[in-house]
Amino acid sequence: MVSKLLALDAYPKLRDLDFRVLRGVELNMRHHRWVPLEDIARFARLDVETASFRLGKLDSWGLVVRRSDMGYVGYQLTIHGYDTLAIRALAKKGVVEAISTAQVGVGKDADVYVGITPSREKVAVKFNRIGGRTSSRKARYHGRVFQNKRHTSWLYVSRLIAQREYEALTLLSPIARVPKPIAWNRHTVVMEFIEGRELAELSDAEMGREEAGEVLKRILDEYLKIVRFGVVHSDLSEYNVVLTGDGILIIDWAQYVTTADPESLEYLERDITVLLNAFKRRWHVEVDFQEVWQRFKEAWTESRGAE
Ligand SMILES: Nc1ncnc2c1ncn2[C@@H]1O[C@H](COP(=O)(O)OP(=O)(O)O)[C@@H](O)[C@H]1O
Ligand SMILES: [Mg+2]
Repeated sequence: MVSKLLALDAYPKLRDLDFRVLRGVELNMRHHRWVPLEDIARFARLDVETASFRLGKLDSWGLVVRRSDMGYVGYQLTIHGYDTLAIRALAKKGVVEAISTAQVGVGKDADVYVGITPSREKVAVKFNRIGGRTSSRKARYHGRVFQNKRHTSWLYVSRLIAQREYEALTLLSPIARVPKPIAWNRHTVVMEFIEGRELAELSDAEMGREEAGEVLKRILDEYLKIVRFGVVHSDLSEYNVVLTGDGILIIDWAQYVTTADPESLEYLERDITVLLNAFKRRWHVEVDFQEVWQRFKEAWTESRGAE
């Protein structure tokens, strides 16, 4: 399902004061489920009438929603409003100058678009969409980690996911084949654009058994190196490996755990199982699970010893 980046339609229509209004809604959502109109007006340094008028516009563009059956008029930011704020911040920092309306990737939890930097480079801009698609493993993982915190709103969680993925890419890009991180803001991560194809997209005809065997070997070698370094992906599958002209990259790192976490061994076993099963099912590549697993367990143990 390809979704349009609604924020891009609204963006050119927005004035500086609209961004102040959106910021006012965003910041006050820490304290209110529905942010009172008066609080937004105060934050944006506008009279209530002007604030209300601008909020009406923002509502019609899909950036906020309004509710008035609580004894007061209140507003919430939508995911499109949140996108808008992230795009604005990234543009102001000189990270991206433009974002293409054509979506390049759609995952379980994110929409990925092509961005263009001021120096005309192509980058990937990944907007986390947690909240809408909460049945995923990533949402469950973060729900578990943060269930004891007060702020479990999608705003907070999707921001945390972006931060975590940026962290993982920063840790791993010097030693392994993962996208190079460029910046993050709110729920958005900007990273190196990978020209390639998701493994899951490749049909049996496009990749024969022998070639698939080579690809699997490359993935396992790469992942072994990462595990030895002390990181477990926790959502490895044919959907999170990209095949490029000269090899493979492993993407989608937001739910990584370190091998210091005792549960990481269980996640690692699941990663290996999912990967080997995919190669068996899709490309009829048979490998000895126990033999592979033994190597990974050793790497896992080794990484813990080194701490
Ligand atoms: N750096 C990138 N360059 C190019 N395409 C990307 C990049 N990162 C992700 N994609 C595309 O977007 C899809 C979704 O990204 P992913 O990180 O897997 O998010 P999700 O959590 O939604 O699965 C990927 O499967 C891939 O096709
Ligand atoms: Mg993915």
